[in-house]
Amino acid sequence: MANHAPVGHEKIETSNFLMIVLVLLTVSVGGLVEIVPLFFQRSTTQPLENVQPYTPLQLAGRDVYIREGCVGCHSQMVRPFRSETLRYGSYSKAGEFVYDRPFLWGSKRTGPDLQRVGGKYSDEWHRIHLINPRDLVPESNMPAYAWLERGMIDPADMAPKMRTLRRLGVPYSDEQIDKAGDEVKGKTELDAVVAYLQVLGTAVK
Ligand code: HEC
Repeated sequence: MANHAPVGHEKIETSNFLMIVLVLLTVSVGGLVEIVPLFFQRSTTQPLENVQPYTPLQLAGRDVYIREGCVGCHSQMVRPFRSETLRYGSYSKAGEFVYDRPFLWGSKRTGPDLQRVGGKYSDEWHRIHLINPRDLVPESNMPAYAWLERGMIDPADMAPKMRTLRRLGVPYSDEQIDKAGDEVKGKTELDAVVAYLQVLGTAVK
């Protein structure tokens, strides 16, 4: 230990108060410089050219996907590595997720990434697979979701959901919101999840 009065950097290192205040200051400036520009950059706030807001049926399916916890086993985020783009397709761009609230990027891949699964299989494949994955993939350990076939989408739910999303910036028109209930009338939760899966990642091919 120095037996002289602390000088220069030593002054900071030997004072808890100065150390805490200056660390906080440094981290906040560093954080702000990295985070704040993201709120204003076109590449993170503007949808890519072909990205459309979810239709009422797709939106209902997305909510079933959230309720059933699919995100716990499936990511929706293709990273920009060759191994990933070879397997799944084009890597994920920020502009694809502008209408996703909440994001479903996930971080666990018990099953494959689903960001580019839209159009990979037929609707019928998805229906059979969701009712019992083992009918199509014998070694699959994905749970069966047979009840989705019996659950109905409530048309009355859709307009309030879409109005809330509109408040958050999704450009739904009044007409789309008025017609939302009709579009999901008589549809099962299975229909909705399949509609959602089939649109995933299709804006970029
Ligand atoms: C316990 C983990 C787990 C959960 C939860 C889960 N899955 Fe899976 N999923 C898997 C596994 C493992 C596979 C690969 C084997 C297969 O195709 O069945 C898979 C495959 C898939 C595939 C085919 C992907 C491809 O590219 O071949 C789709 C689509 C899918 N799951 C959708 C869903 C949906 C929708 C849900 C929620 C309703 C869900 N999964 C929940 C584990 C899971």
